[in-house]
Amino acid sequence: MFRDDFVWGVASSSYQIEGSDPEDGMGKNVWDTFMEKGKMKDKGDAKVSCDHIHHYKEDYRLMNNLGIKAYRFSLSWARIIPNGVGEVNQKGIQLYRDMILEMKKNGITPYITLYHWELPQALEDCGGWLNEEIIEWFAEYARVVVENFGDLCDYFITINEPQCFVGIGYMQGAHAPGKTLPMKDIFQIAHNVLRAHGRAVINMRKYAGKKIYVGYAPTCGVAYPISDRPEDVEAARKVYFGFYQPDENWTWNVSWFSDPVFLGHYPEEGMKKYAEYLPKITQEDMDLIYQPLDFMGQNIYNGYYIQAGKDGNPEYANRPIGFPITASKWPITPECLYYGCKFIYERYHLPIFITENGLSCADNVALDGQVHDTNRIEFLDLYISQLQRAVDEGVDVRGYFLWTFCDNFEWEKGYTERFGIVWVDFQTQERIAKDSAYWYQKMMETNGANLSINHHPRTLLFFEPKLIKRVWGGNRLKKEWGFEGELEDHIGECWVVSSNEQVDCVVNRGFYKGKKLSELWNEEPDLFDHMEGDEFPLLVKLIDAKEDLSLQVHPDDAYAGLNENGSGKRECWYVLDCPEDATLAIGNKAQSLEEFSRLVSEGAWDQLINEVPIKKGDFIQIEPGTLHAIKAGFMLLEIQQNSDITYRIYDYDRVCEDTPRELNIEKGLQVMKVPNLITEEDIFHPVNTKNVIQRLIMTDHYQIWSLEVAAPLVLQNEWPFLIVSVVEGDGLVDGTQVSRGNHFIIPNGYKTCKIQGSMKLVITAPVI
Ligand code: NOJ
Repeated sequence: MFRDDFVWGVASSSYQIEGSDPEDGMGKNVWDTFMEKGKMKDKGDAKVSCDHIHHYKEDYRLMNNLGIKAYRFSLSWARIIPNGVGEVNQKGIQLYRDMILEMKKNGITPYITLYHWELPQALEDCGGWLNEEIIEWFAEYARVVVENFGDLCDYFITINEPQCFVGIGYMQGAHAPGKTLPMKDIFQIAHNVLRAHGRAVINMRKYAGKKIYVGYAPTCGVAYPISDRPEDVEAARKVYFGFYQPDENWTWNVSWFSDPVFLGHYPEEGMKKYAEYLPKITQEDMDLIYQPLDFMGQNIYNGYYIQAGKDGNPEYANRPIGFPITASKWPITPECLYYGCKFIYERYHLPIFITENGLSCADNVALDGQVHDTNRIEFLDLYISQLQRAVDEGVDVRGYFLWTFCDNFEWEKGYTERFGIVWVDFQTQERIAKDSAYWYQKMMETNGANLSINHHPRTLLFFEPKLIKRVWGGNRLKKEWGFEGELEDHIGECWVVSSNEQVDCVVNRGFYKGKKLSELWNEEPDLFDHMEGDEFPLLVKLIDAKEDLSLQVHPDDAYAGLNENGSGKRECWYVLDCPEDATLAIGNKAQSLEEFSRLVSEGAWDQLINEVPIKKGDFIQIEPGTLHAIKAGFMLLEIQQNSDITYRIYDYDRVCEDTPRELNIEKGLQVMKVPNLITEEDIFHPVNTKNVIQRLIMTDHYQIWSLEVAAPLVLQNEWPFLIVSVVEGDGLVDGTQVSRGNHFIIPNGYKTCKIQGSMKLVITAPVI
């Protein structure tokens, strides 16, 4: 669980939200020039954006209403010092002071980032980050910041994502200032950035006039293992801190931008690999960069799979096709928060703040006037759950800032991406809190109690069926019903819902994929309303009898408990198919147990066995103590107690693997009900009233309904769970296509289920 003082907040940056005012006295920055040069044709500019400078009061009110208590934002260097150095713009200072005071009035703790990519153009004109003088320019700006805001703020972050503005801005040219400089220059820039960071930290501590908490916010895609195998984890760690990326992408590197800051030296692997491009690096430089920091910020959005190859060396592994992505086409990889934090903490040992994490969605305002961004909720839930996993394992994470509060100007993508939990109409400046904002509010309020890691979701549970060989079985389950498996013939049964020792069905899709039913029963009791018992109480199978089954009887709970250390076996059959004019052996014609025994010993089966006429679609309840036999030609759905205790009375003298099948006449007689004459009246014939659910069977262990679906309907679940068997036709169940032979569990708490199509269902609930 997250610590009680865990900081939950939102993040933004000045250029992306503020907008500007001709009167505000600010200077130009590299992004203004980048757009003026037409580098972002038709994508808009940031002159107005969210017009935060005129809407900050309502924005902080909205934050307050949404329970947001921490806000990471950045300052515009050119708003404070229009030329980057020299004269300070008092209007800019006043604006930021007013903003911070307003935040505080709303109970919001400010976390200030000094540099979020918007270099004053005047400095770029003097060489920008390539000019070593920037170390002093930045340090001076840092001094002005703490001198003016140090009284109002305790938390400061020097630089946001150096990897990004150095790489995309100066090497690839897709961000401002849009340059494509040679490798040597890029290494020089990176070295200047790190030294500027160090110099700024010194000034901030010196001029703040009080204790302040200072951090730094680098980023990087996270190399994470394809499995939990130690070899894969080791391979991923190696890549995460290593130098595996191609040269044109080299700035996407963790250790180059973090080892000097947190360990006091550049990584050796990188020093060797890039020796020819490196600037002069002195011990003095390293001492400057290596300033004590209070925390490590990390912007983490996604990651990539790594596995250990056969030779043990790391390999990049492909994501399967159709892998989930966000609107920006970034992969959805929640594990990156777990492994990213874990790896980082192991190496740098500083408290971590996730300074950014979030996603862009193709949001829209629905006809009800709201923004239903379920994708964002799912994403955040999965990611923050993985963050909790890291925390639970001892990683010292202190805070999480969601990127971002309002939809805003997404750099070179303009307004085509929406990352906010608050929708912004850029024509009217109207704000609408999206569904995710409410979800995040709850998450913050409960410190993560509503996360799926703490509160597993309810989903329909589908299982992998298992075919079972029986001497009397046929091949219809495979040939006609399409079940797959190695068996070719003598397939007597297909176990579809079972947690029995013989077959423990495995969930085959969704959140619980790979879990056995017995594991769910033990580990997720919520799904079954915490029903008592060591094991899942019911068992469902399909039966194909090519030949007659033995004449048998089952004990009840009392007898089985005393004599077999198990539960009794009550069962119900639904007739999927049978020959015309068929009968089944159910009950017996003896008047007393003595007569029963005599008829058995004489082999007078005709006088003992009671035949009942049966039709397709009938339900037959077999109580414990009832003599019964399934006959050749029958296909049945069998719903029973989770037990396999059967006493065979007669098996037509069949042999199995050269020996006659074992009989248990003695025990059988002990549990046999006599007299027990079953008649046609004891058979249940559902009247096929379309879309009306009919309860047919009610026992001490289960109740069973039949439902013929002809038009869309909503099934209400008020039971510890329901087992649904599709016995005819096909249709849709909450988005999943189902057809004859499919079975699923509707767990407790999964309240309603939308069903449509043309199909017959048999629905079973346990009786407590
Ligand atoms: C990281 C950057 O810091 C932020 O400015 C940007 O909007 C987000 N990533 C999303 O791309």
